[in-house]
Amino acid sequence: MMKNTSGNSSSKKNAGYKAAEYVEDGMVLGLGTGSTTHFFIEKVGMRIKEEGISIKGIPTSFQSLLIAKQWNIPITTLEENDIDLSVDGADEVDREFNLIKGGGAAHTKEKIVDYAAKQFIVIVDESKFVDKLGDFPVPVEVLPDASRMAIKELEDMGAECEIRMAQRKDGPVITDNGNFVIDAKFDKIESPRHLEIDINTIPGVVENGIFTQMVDKVIIGTDEGTKEL
Ligand code: 5RP
Repeated sequence: MMKNTSGNSSSKKNAGYKAAEYVEDGMVLGLGTGSTTHFFIEKVGMRIKEEGISIKGIPTSFQSLLIAKQWNIPITTLEENDIDLSVDGADEVDREFNLIKGGGAAHTKEKIVDYAAKQFIVIVDESKFVDKLGDFPVPVEVLPDASRMAIKELEDMGAECEIRMAQRKDGPVITDNGNFVIDAKFDKIESPRHLEIDINTIPGVVENGIFTQMVDKVIIGTDEGTKEL
């Protein structure tokens, strides 16, 4: 199962906890997915308990839903509420704030929620910050029936592709939406915006993990604290 395991938990915790300082009473939050966002949700839960702030959360995955419920964060949906602030992790961030996401196979809902937010903050440790995107394969969520044809198209675009397999290797990873994920490894990505759009023209592709023109702020966690860009 594709997962960027780099970075350590104290830097992830510092980034997640710092982002929780941007949460204000009455906000509706987009709750990203992954080990860094886990710390953000945890800290929001603590603030609800200790300060009595009133928050609603829109989770980007079943995993985040369970963490939010564990911290008694009231859940809502995009049908019912707009989002004030979304906080999410990333697998790579470049200097223009383009991202690769989807190491946890949640990028489709993440893109919907993060895009809908009035403000979008990305939280990462230093290992995720790159000059150019592309060391991390681009996750592409695809309808199972379209996966073989989609791989051919992605290979024509220059990628080496693998269907993401479950950790026990007994079958493909199935997303929260019931689909497969193709991990498409390109060389350095010269134009993230164009590649993001091009991949989504392949029939059967639901969404890919390149996120462009969305990020307002990046919080980088280190062992000592945080840096903000
Ligand atoms: C899930 C994601 C995650 O945000 C990304 O994989 C980063 O995860 P982590 O914070 O565990 O390193 O995109 O689909």
